[in-house]
Amino acid sequence: MDVKKLFYLLCALVIFTTLNTNVVSASGFASSKEKVKENILDNKVSIAHRGASGYAPEHTFYAYDKSHKEFNADYIELDLQMTKDGNLIAMHDEDVERTTGHKGRVEDYTTQELKQMDVGSWFNKKYPKYAKKEYKGAKIPTLEEILDRYGDNANYYIETKSPDVYPGMEEKLLHSLKQHNLLSNQKLNKGQVVIQSFSQESLLKVANMNNQIPLVQLVDKDKLSTFTSEDLKFISSYAIGVGPDYSDLDKQTVQKLHEYNLKVHPYTVNTEKDMKKMLNIDVDGVFSNYIDKYINLKNK
Ligand code: G3P
Ligand code: CA
Repeated sequence: MDVKKLFYLLCALVIFTTLNTNVVSASGFASSKEKVKENILDNKVSIAHRGASGYAPEHTFYAYDKSHKEFNADYIELDLQMTKDGNLIAMHDEDVERTTGHKGRVEDYTTQELKQMDVGSWFNKKYPKYAKKEYKGAKIPTLEEILDRYGDNANYYIETKSPDVYPGMEEKLLHSLKQHNLLSNQKLNKGQVVIQSFSQESLLKVANMNNQIPLVQLVDKDKLSTFTSEDLKFISSYAIGVGPDYSDLDKQTVQKLHEYNLKVHPYTVNTEKDMKKMLNIDVDGVFSNYIDKYINLKNK
C-alpha cells in the first residue's frame, strides 16, 4: 500500500471513531471515559436526612426504603453511634430516650438489648398524619444490616456522631465499608460513600486511613462566619465540602466557599421556600427530611 493510501485510510479510521463515540454518547450510553468522570456529588445532591424521616420513623428501614426506593434520593444519610459490645448502629442521639422511651445511653446497651426497643411508636404519636400501624415495633438497624440490605445499590452519607465517646468508631466504619466492597477507587471516585462529621479530628483520622474517601466538614450553627481564610484553606485540604446550617448561608457565602473549592450541603432544609432559596444561592445539595420536595424542585 502506498503512503497516500495509508494516509487516507488512517484519516477515515479517525473520523469513524469520532463519529461513533458521539453517536453512542448522544444515545445515552456513556463511553467508558465519561463513566469514570461521573460523580454523584456534581449534581445538586438530594440527601435523605435520617432517611425519609418526615414521613417515617428516622433511622429505620421504613425511612430508608422510602427515600431510596420510592423517592430515589441520591443519598441515605446515617448517623452512627456505637453499642456497649462495639457495634455501629444508626441513631441520631447518644441518649436512647427520645426515640425509644427507655432511659440511658447507647454506649451502655448491648446490640441485643437495643434490638428489643421500639423506635417507631414515638413517631406515630408525634406525627399522627403519617402514622402507620407497622411502624410500631420498628427496630434499630446496625450499620452491617444497612449495608447488607442496600449494598452498592445505594449511596451513603455517613456521620461519625460523638467520636470522642466512641474511640475506634472510624476504624470500624472503614472496616465495614471495605467488607461490603464500598471502598474501591471506582466507587469512591463517583461519590458512592461520603463521610461527614462535626469533629475535625474524626475526619482527619478517616483521611489518614484512606485519603480517597470524600469528606464533609459539618459546621455548627453561627460558626461559619467565624472561619478565617486559613481555616477554609485547611478544611479544603482534607474535605470536599462543608455542611453548614442553612440559615447561615447567602449567595456571597456560597460563592466564597466555592472559591475555596468546597461544595456546600446545608442542613436541614425542610420547607419548599427554603429549598428554593438554597437552589437560588447555588448550593450543591441539601439534607432534608422531605427530600421528595427538593427532588421535585430541583428537576423543575
Ligand atoms: O449531618 C447533617 C445534619 O444531619 C447535621 O445535623 O444533628 O441532624 O445530625 P444532625
Ligand atoms: Ca446527621
